[in-house]
Amino acid sequence: MSEKIFKRYTITSALPYANGPLHIGHLAGCYIPSDIYVRYLRLQKRDVAYVCGSDEHGVAITIKAKNENISPQEVVDRYHGIMKESFKKFGISFDHYSRTSSPVHHETAGQLFKDLYNQGEFVEKETEQYYDEEAGQFLADRYIEGTCPNCGYDQAYGDQCEKCGSSLSPTDLIHPKSKLSGNTPVLKMTRHWFLDLGKYTPFLKQWILKDHAHDWKNNVLGQCRSWLEAGDGLQARSMTRDMDWGIPVPLPEAKGKVLYVWFDAPIGYISSTKEWAKEKGIDWEPYWKDQDTKLVHFIGKDNIVFHCITFPAILKTHGDFILPDNVPANEFLNLEGQKISTSRNWAVWLHEYLEEFPGQEDVLRYVLTANAPETKDNDFTWKDFQARNNNELVAVYGNFINRAVVLTHKYFQGKVPEKSSLQPIDEEVMLALQSYPDKIAQSLERYRFREALALMMDFARTGNKYLADTEPWKTIKTDRERTGTILNIALNIAANLSILSAPFLPFTAEKIKAMLGLKIFNWENAGQMDLLKAGDEINPGSLLFQKVEDSTVEKQVQKLLDSKSKNEEVQYQTDPVKPLIAFDDFTKLDLRVVTIIKAEKVKKSKKLLQLTVDTGQVKKTVLSGVAEQFEPEFLIGKQVTMLINLAPKKMAGIASEGMILMAEDAEGKFKLLTPHESTNPGSTIR
Ligand code: MF3
Ligand code: ZN
Repeated sequence: MSEKIFKRYTITSALPYANGPLHIGHLAGCYIPSDIYVRYLRLQKRDVAYVCGSDEHGVAITIKAKNENISPQEVVDRYHGIMKESFKKFGISFDHYSRTSSPVHHETAGQLFKDLYNQGEFVEKETEQYYDEEAGQFLADRYIEGTCPNCGYDQAYGDQCEKCGSSLSPTDLIHPKSKLSGNTPVLKMTRHWFLDLGKYTPFLKQWILKDHAHDWKNNVLGQCRSWLEAGDGLQARSMTRDMDWGIPVPLPEAKGKVLYVWFDAPIGYISSTKEWAKEKGIDWEPYWKDQDTKLVHFIGKDNIVFHCITFPAILKTHGDFILPDNVPANEFLNLEGQKISTSRNWAVWLHEYLEEFPGQEDVLRYVLTANAPETKDNDFTWKDFQARNNNELVAVYGNFINRAVVLTHKYFQGKVPEKSSLQPIDEEVMLALQSYPDKIAQSLERYRFREALALMMDFARTGNKYLADTEPWKTIKTDRERTGTILNIALNIAANLSILSAPFLPFTAEKIKAMLGLKIFNWENAGQMDLLKAGDEINPGSLLFQKVEDSTVEKQVQKLLDSKSKNEEVQYQTDPVKPLIAFDDFTKLDLRVVTIIKAEKVKKSKKLLQLTVDTGQVKKTVLSGVAEQFEPEFLIGKQVTMLINLAPKKMAGIASEGMILMAEDAEGKFKLLTPHESTNPGSTIR
């Protein structure tokens, strides 16, 4: 193996917000990959700390509390328990699962802030921030939504656009809207502590784009490059917020302010490590401070900026800490062709799967790994779930193990038979299988989990084929010794398979280990064909996988469709009515019918179309966020409604001179507002 072996490993996976139960998107995004990696490291006898915990601060939590009319504390208490339980049941083998409301974390995050403050890292600034007058509250982060200035996505948050991944300030948003009241917020002065990220750009460029140009994933490098090389550079980001839920800013002059959730949450990895080490009675510091520790952050793609830019900048400038060796972020998992959505209940919930598919945790782990969104967004479908289960786990893997075990009991009373003289087919299969542990290890060390899983399955397939080719159920009639040799080899392949599949299918591997009474169980010995010796006793077989019927698949798909339509009935609601305005306010709007004469896609934007319209007097250019819904050709020649005296605003480098008005339905679909019969462009709307 060419990869460097470190003295110890600190492996983290993103702290999930404690604002709802977990679904398959969470598992596929960062928990299964990190768990596979960690289980592999442990089989290599490496020293590992695998830490996680619930992310309990920030607007994600307070919005949930407000919607349900309970306190933020009640929200996090409820979901922390549910999430911890689901992880455990799916075999996500954290060494420690903490929560950011823990005293150790408050102390750790507060101290880190103070350290940076004392180092003079913060720029203290009075700036204008959005404020909701009706709610009497500043609008941090997710309290505000609007159109992303980079890609035109119209549900970007105040701190981030989930579509294009860019990190934002609320004032960057076009058409900002308060999530509390639906109102357009006003600007009000407030004091905050900013981290001048621009200062760290040269270091970050060197560290990410040069030093890690060859070992970080392309999707991660791509996002980093776009921020680090953006024309106006990295902006200063406020690390504090005007909120009452969170970790108080540890400065006397900052009453009523808390740490920004994205400042405190990643520090949760450190706090979690501290708690773990304390329980074990060991020192936590080497896991975060020793250069011979490999730190790896497993995350989803919406977390890249915080783990590659902000948190490393904090760690680096603080000076005591190591930086991540890698940040293997996954893309998103869709479900049956649509984006997973908690609010629309378009999800496979882990607690429901556990009830409906008891004992089949490994099946979901398998399917989510085989189809992991490693390099691009991917789709989970129940049909694919069924096919992979039936054709791969049942027909190949399960069938092979079952045959080897059952035949040994049938012909040799459950004792591993002697391996006598070898035939070429035996030599070949043993030779072929020898190289797998190394090949799988190499894929795992590179975070290529799909590839590693496919190799593991190849291994099982080779074993299954070996039995099919040698037909011990036939040779037993004429040649008992030959049959013994075949089964000895098959059982040793099975033993190896259980080791090699342990990172992916931990429950199944454990069952095989028990069945075969394996004592040796680590990566070092994988590949050897004498893990089981003649005379060793094995236990009776037990069922590993069972067929998934068509009716099960249909039921699951139907369940999705039902809950979705039920949800739409309940959830369908119109925007709240805005406060009254004077007639004069209305007459300030110059609304016209215009004719679209040209329409084209905007480069690098999925959402935006650039339209040229005839306003009767002049032609105007206007950008509209409807590219995902309308083909440019469809729009050409259409008459639509437009606000023509809106101050120009630049998006994606193009100035938009007005706004095309549309009706947005409950599903977020736009409808053109076209006059019922054609009229002259420039007709006034009043
Ligand atoms: N809670 C965040 C999310 O779900 C992830 C936090 S990761 C951490 O997107 F680094 F902050 F811990
Ligand atoms: Zn965007």
